[in-house]
Amino acid sequence: MNVIKLQNVSYKYPLSEEFALKEISYEFQQGKLYGIIGANGGGKTTLCNLVRGLIPHFYQGELSGEVLVNGKDVRDWESHVLATTIGFIFQNPFSQISGVKETVFEEIALGLENLGVDKEEMIERTIKVVKLLGLEELIKRNPNNLSGGQRQRVAFASIIVMNSDILVIDEPTSQLDPESTAEVFAIIHALKEQGKTIMLVEHKVDLVAEFADEVLVIEEGRIVIAGPTAEVFAKEELLQKGASLPPVALLGHELARAGQPLDEIPVTIASAKEQIAGRMRWTNGGN
Ligand SMILES: Nc1ncnc2c1ncn2[C@@H]1O[C@H](COP(=O)(O)OP(=O)(O)OP(=O)(O)O)[C@@H](O)[C@H]1O
Ligand SMILES: [Mg+2]
Repeated sequence: MNVIKLQNVSYKYPLSEEFALKEISYEFQQGKLYGIIGANGGGKTTLCNLVRGLIPHFYQGELSGEVLVNGKDVRDWESHVLATTIGFIFQNPFSQISGVKETVFEEIALGLENLGVDKEEMIERTIKVVKLLGLEELIKRNPNNLSGGQRQRVAFASIIVMNSDILVIDEPTSQLDPESTAEVFAIIHALKEQGKTIMLVEHKVDLVAEFADEVLVIEEGRIVIAGPTAEVFAKEELLQKGASLPPVALLGHELARAGQPLDEIPVTIASAKEQIAGRMRWTNGGN
């Protein structure tokens, strides 16, 4: 079942000359993780703004084509309802903390409080998310005194507690160190396991290759390449489209050029290992 369907969508920001999105068509299926990659200024954030209804509810401009969320056009959704249907996490972990709550626990519960969820349920749901993300040691801390990685995990908790089925996540790790990045990806993986539909804009293509079901490459407002992750990252022409390839895929292409191709272009380290191990068994005569 598709939860988001884009049909021939074009969009131009107010006062802008160029279209930021051009004839975009794609279907996002329930429970899948979509990696969105491509050069700066290509339109990735604009695509996120469109799906979460900021376009056209907040940004005016010129929108044509169909944008369906759960079968209903974004233009017909009330924006506050859409905001609880789609959870949104963005790049800067510092600007996601409300600044009005004194503990992490209250910060995570804030969205439910705003919705008027009763106190018992609010506490119960917040505790569940705290456990899911392993945030127990942080709950009494002041959200303003957390590190970037801790804030990003709290931001995820604040969104997860709302229990939205669709998550739009725009470069969540760009300000994080490798350890915090790994923690964020573990959270994203857990959300996928729960059946959430996830759109993830992320420049770290090795992680996209490992976790995404499908990848969309966006260049100058168009989807230029899209499909199952292993197929997309096997295409070397991505490099000409402002995107990068996971290092193992680059190695795969180099080996092929050197006349020693693997069975297929590996896009994850696991698949490279498997193929190399297979070849070694073969060259060692099956030992
Ligand atoms: N609020 C705005 N008003 C006018 N033009 C905008 C606005 N936001 C973005 N744009 C333009 O729309 C185009 C797409 O920008 P967008 O931010 O969606 O790209 P992006 O792929 O997210 O880039 P990045 O990788 O840098 O985050 C760019 O040309 C940008 O200048
Ligand atoms: Mg962006």
